[in-house]
This record gives sequence, structure tokens and C-alpha cells, in this order.
Amino acid sequence: MSCRINIKLETLCQKQSLKILSKIRYLKSSDIEAIYELYRKVKSAYLWPIGGDWQIPQFLQVIEKKQVIGSFSQQNGLLSFVIFKRLDDDCDILLIITQSERQKQGYMKELLTTLMKQEKAKTYFVEVHEKNIGAIEFYKKLSFEQVGMRKDFYGQGQNAYLLAKKG
Ligand SMILES: CC(C)(COP(=O)(O)OP(=O)(O)OC[C@H]1O[C@@H](n2cnc3c(N)ncnc32)[C@H](O)[C@@H]1OP(=O)(O)O)[C@@H](O)C(=O)NCCC(=O)NCCS
Repeated sequence: MSCRINIKLETLCQKQSLKILSKIRYLKSSDIEAIYELYRKVKSAYLWPIGGDWQIPQFLQVIEKKQVIGSFSQQNGLLSFVIFKRLDDDCDILLIITQSERQKQGYMKELLTTLMKQEKAKTYFVEVHEKNIGAIEFYKKLSFEQVGMRKDFYGQGQNAYLLAKKG
């Protein structure tokens, strides 16, 4: 009997380990290596542009302005991050990334949902490369809708969808 209870508890802990172990906070300048490394790794493995060309000075700038939140675990460090910018009542999402090995485990949904609860913007906007199907599917899951098209947004012939979600 007690053995069965132990097995059930173990399974429950495994399922909830994400919530137990991940912590969400603004990034600090001491996180610069972690964010740059994560960005560099994901970007180099990716077929499509994912939100501009970010270098260390640009990351430091947005970190200083408190425009970056991230999700951390003790074991795996920075798991995912969002860079955003408030524009009056609205909020632009500039870049979102989750570690490749930890995608589709709910980290970004949790992070963006937390950001939206905190920012309480009227509308959230994001541009996404028209061929970045994974990211488009992700945004659809969070009820973003296409509201426009940005021709040549990422360079000639590299179009982006403009997606939006009401807060
Ligand atoms: C887009 C990205 C940030 C999503 O992060 P993630 O942590 O894997 O997303 P989550 O696990 O929170 O997914 C939330 C939901 O979206 C779905 N989803 C996520 N990625 C998906 C994909 N590639 N295809 C289909 N659905 C996907 C999940 O299955 C989940 O659905 P559910 O709520 O029904 O379970 C991640 O794939 C990534 O870093 N991509 C590379 C960078 C990029 O393209 N960024 C976007 C441009 S700025």
C-alpha cells in the first residue's frame, strides 16, 4: 500500500517538476553570458531570422531597462526569456527563446502568461517570420491572431506576420 502511494507521489513530482523548479524574474547584468549563449545557440541552429541581430551591448541595454524576463532552474540555468517593450498602452514582444532541449515543456507559455499578468497592456504585438511555423503555432496556442503582414521585414523576400493579442 505505502509503496503504491510512493510511486504515485513520484509520478506527480515528475509531472510538476517544471513548476517546482523554475523561477521567473527580471534578468540582471550578471545574466549576460547566459542570455547571450542561449541566443547564440538557438539562432545558429535556426533556419529563420528570429527577431533582429542582438549583441552584448543591446542585451545589456534591455536588461538595464527591465525589458527582459526569464525562467530559471537550479539545474539548467536560464531556460527561456522574453524581451519586450512597452509603447504607451501596448506591448511589443521583441524576442522569445526557450532552450532547444526544453522546448514544448510549457516554459514559454508560463513566462509570457506571467508577463501579461504583470504588464496588463491593452494589446500585445509580435512579428514572426512567415516560415517560422513552430513559433506561429506557439502564438496561435496563446490566442494571438494575424493582424498584418510586414513585407521584407527581415530583408528582401523575408516577410513577417504581425500577430496581436488583446490583454
Ligand atoms: C517559440 C518558442 C519560444 C516556444 O517555446 P516553448 O517553451 O517550446 O513553448 P511552450 O512549451 O510553452 O508551448 C506552449 C504551447 O505551444 C505549443 N508549441 C510550442 N512550440 C510548438 C511547435 N514548434 N509546434 C507546434 N506547437 C508548439 C506547445 O505544444 C504548447 O501547447 P499546449 O499549451 O497545447 O501544450 C520556442 O520554440 C523557441 O525558442 N523557438 C526558437 C526561437 C523562435 O522562433 N522565437 C520566436 C520568434 S521571436
